Amino acid sequence: MRKIIIAGNWKMNKTASEAVKLATLLTRDLADITEVDIVICPPFTALADVHDVVTDTNIGLGAQNLYWEDEGAFTGEVSAPMIKESGAQYVIIGHSERRQFFGETDQTVNKKIKAALKWNLTPIVCVGENLEQREKNKTFDVVSGQCKGSLAGFTAQEMEKMVIAYEPVWAIGTGKTATPAQAQEVHKFIRELISKMHNEDVASSVRIQYGGSVKPENTAELISQEDIDGALVGGASLSSDSFVKIIKNARK
Ligand code: PGA
Repeated sequence: MRKIIIAGNWKMNKTASEAVKLATLLTRDLADITEVDIVICPPFTALADVHDVVTDTNIGLGAQNLYWEDEGAFTGEVSAPMIKESGAQYVIIGHSERRQFFGETDQTVNKKIKAALKWNLTPIVCVGENLEQREKNKTFDVVSGQCKGSLAGFTAQEMEKMVIAYEPVWAIGTGKTATPAQAQEVHKFIRELISKMHNEDVASSVRIQYGGSVKPENTAELISQEDIDGALVGGASLSSDSFVKIIKNARK
């Protein structure tokens, strides 16, 4: 049985003090949850402070990006050892906003995954098609290309340590959620692809989250799909009320 994993991607929201407030509410309201792995991903500037809040709780901490070199003359970048020492255990890699606005490619995603694994951070690797690609029936080609490119060259053991997030770009921040059947279809496809790249055991253990306008009202139905093992939540993770409801509704 794969354990459900729900991660909140706060994107470029919350100053450190605002982040501490939200994290504090979450630790209070989610203290009794054991059936779901809970992760919050504040901006870099809030990681250390939020770590102080979530230490010794059931809430995990993640960053939203990293750079693949450990250190050096890379102005403005943040490395895996820096993230590790801030207390995070997870890192989102290849989010569509980074692909769209910051030149992220499958090749850079691949290097970033390597860096994350080297420092024992769990990568949450994002893939997903945009609206034009879906309308042209290219969803499977696009997702397969992104998975093959981003996940190339890893051992089965490394693959098992990753979380994949399928996030159709047309559903992110738009209020349009993929239907549970649409999402399940792609999740199943990704799992079969991992099985071909490695083996069935690896494929059946890797957790695949859905992301894109996840809300308290659509969580249970999405999570009830066989190959959907959790959610990567943007907008609805910014208030404790909605994020807590999502987590409670995600208990299978
Ligand atoms: P959304 O974002 O929940 O606001 O659609 C999801 C994401 O980008 O991870």
